[in-house]
Amino acid sequence: MTHTIELRGGARMPSLGLGTWKSAKGEIGAAVKGALRLGYRHVDCAAIYGNEREVGAALSESFASGVVAREDVWITSKLWNDRHAPEDVEPALRQTLADLQLDRLDLYLVHWPVALRKGVPMALRAQDFVALDVLPLSETWAGMEALVDLGLVRAIGVSNCSAAKVAGLVEGARIAPAVDQVELHPYLQQEALVARCRELGVAVTAYSPLGSPDRPRSMKQAGEPALLEDPTVRAIAARHGATPAQVLIAWALQRGTAVLAKSVDPGRLAQNLAAAELALEPEDLRAIAALERARRYVTGTFWALPGSPYTVSNLWDE
Ligand code: A2P
Repeated sequence: MTHTIELRGGARMPSLGLGTWKSAKGEIGAAVKGALRLGYRHVDCAAIYGNEREVGAALSESFASGVVAREDVWITSKLWNDRHAPEDVEPALRQTLADLQLDRLDLYLVHWPVALRKGVPMALRAQDFVALDVLPLSETWAGMEALVDLGLVRAIGVSNCSAAKVAGLVEGARIAPAVDQVELHPYLQQEALVARCRELGVAVTAYSPLGSPDRPRSMKQAGEPALLEDPTVRAIAARHGATPAQVLIAWALQRGTAVLAKSVDPGRLAQNLAAAELALEPEDLRAIAALERARRYVTGTFWALPGSPYTVSNLWDE
């Protein structure tokens, strides 16, 4: 059975999704096809991952060969930072739809609460940024709402947004965000954010649940703790005859969040899907709660270049 989370508006999003960030061209297509064959019913994409065309070919083949029907798969993608101007939102979505070979997305997210000048994929200098007081999220959001009106997306949401930013959008929105997708794992549990989103009726999706060990070196800090090697997580896994990755995925699901697990390996794809069957005990949950250490693996420092209007502190509102 596919576990789902009901979103504002009534759509049901499968709780466990396949992540595609960092999945290389040449291997992501096979991973998507393999995942759908195994029973994955949620694929999380983004324009900036640079692999949507290969994902689209894999989806199209899977639908054509009858592995799964389009309406039985939840497909998410994300608006990149250089398309925040309201008039750029629909063309950006249409490019993603063309790449993914779809008529409609299930969910479209504003990838970051950070705006870049159009045509700038990654910021290299201060002039590449557009401040949020020049191009506020509320304006981008109006572009997102128009996509729902056009029937091009079933639901809209955000990613990497603090509780304050989510609350601000909910307050001003005609169509409130359905989802906030953020980094969440036992070293960054974000209890207050998860609770506030629950109050606001916004579902939370966890990214980097395994601590994202395959991040590019430029995104790593010296001496980072490795979540998959955490002794408490390993001990819980051993007690259940499970793997550390399964414990981390089961923890996210039992907390009531959706979770995206990235893998391009057939065995690990199967293992991660089976984590939905692992029932952690209250004592396991207590032990995991004690692992909190406010450790972000995706720090956002790449938006806080000298002279940028964005700082780590105003990015996360902390
Ligand atoms: P691979 O794609 O080779 O399986 P995150 O989801 O936190 O971003 O982490 C993704 C990383 O975790 C990738 O390096 C992925 O490698 C690895 N990974 C995925 N599933 C497992 C698993 N079950 N056990 C160990 N590592 C895993």
